[in-house]
Amino acid sequence: MSSGTDKGKGKSGKRRLSTRLTHAARDRKLTQGGVNPVVQRASTVIVESAAKLFEPGGWTYGRHGTATHEALRQCLSEIEGAEHCVLLPSGLMACIVPFLAHAEAGGHVLVSDTVYGPTRRFVDRMLSRWGCEATYFAPGIGAGMEKLMQPNTKLVFVESPGSMTFEIEDAPAIARVAAAHGAVSVMDNTWAGGVFHKPLDLGFDLSVQANTKYVSGGADILNGAIHLNDDKLLARLKDTVADIGSNVSSDDAFTILRGARSLQLRMERHQVSALHVALWLEKHAKVKRVLHPALDSDPNHGLWKRDFTGSSGLFSIVLEPMPTAKVHAFLDALKFFGLGFSYGGFESLAIHCDPQLKRTTYTPDLGGPLIRLSVGLEDPEDLVDDLEQALEAI
Ligand SMILES: Cc1ncc(COP(=O)(O)O)c(C=O)c1O
Repeated sequence: MSSGTDKGKGKSGKRRLSTRLTHAARDRKLTQGGVNPVVQRASTVIVESAAKLFEPGGWTYGRHGTATHEALRQCLSEIEGAEHCVLLPSGLMACIVPFLAHAEAGGHVLVSDTVYGPTRRFVDRMLSRWGCEATYFAPGIGAGMEKLMQPNTKLVFVESPGSMTFEIEDAPAIARVAAAHGAVSVMDNTWAGGVFHKPLDLGFDLSVQANTKYVSGGADILNGAIHLNDDKLLARLKDTVADIGSNVSSDDAFTILRGARSLQLRMERHQVSALHVALWLEKHAKVKRVLHPALDSDPNHGLWKRDFTGSSGLFSIVLEPMPTAKVHAFLDALKFFGLGFSYGGFESLAIHCDPQLKRTTYTPDLGGPLIRLSVGLEDPEDLVDDLEQALEAI
């Protein structure tokens, strides 16, 4: 079965993604004959000779990574079709490190207004302290980004679909403008799990993935990665990671790799189940709108179809106007959807978005309370039953 998710074939050529994920990082040097890599715990590294202590690029300390990290990097690079992968201890760190590497006093960055809240928090609180200006841009800007570029614009940070409201950006148009001005373009690609959207193929320099979500899939680990092809950008990112002393434990690297093996199969199930639930919700009288780019009714459906090969388990609904107490009654009545701030795990989740929905370039007016749903790996009929009884509880 060809899944239609094989854009960006990675280093191992024509094989399909689930095969590549199964067979990546299986070199005996990494596995010592097991199926999985060894969990190599190392702070101290014993080098073979005095000359090697200061060898440029040599492996001389645990923070440079171990065989387990190398195995994880090899596997993750297959997902995004990237030459290089930089590991970070959280998805948020993977969002922040490109800013740390490129923002400077007197510089300027452009950031999508629909960006993940804590990324905005970093931009608002830290960049201004360093004298780097930030401008947010409204969803749907595309080639119009040209007007916002300044001679000192160093970096363009995009999240598509947008956080909580799921607008799709015209990624190739944005990447073209950024490249024409010599700015580094970064895409937070977490929604698609890296499987259904390949920002590097669309012209982006860096693709960020919060492995905390779909890639690890177990709701029990925090991790992030930056994917890229360019050697110079890699050197700058590696320097930045060394500057801030960031580290990922070998045990975490092993656990994420185990999750990543089954990523594509899980994504396909998340996709089918979420669409099943979304289509049912679209017809419900108490639901005003469903914000899901893979639905025909979505205003960005055309862009999604052009640039994505599938959709994940995460989308939002706008309920008919009602007081907060009723929104809480709905959420509290849910049995299979836990109330929690994440997604990408095997279990379904729901949150009320309004208290945390921040935009700078416009005032969101969705016409009712906004609820984000993360559809997990339960049977979608059970999830529909759960939503039905909870909507009745309003
Ligand atoms: C789009 C997006 N990017 C980044 C992150 C940050 O990931 P982490 O929680 O691993 O720091 C999240 C977490 O919710 C996210 O939704």
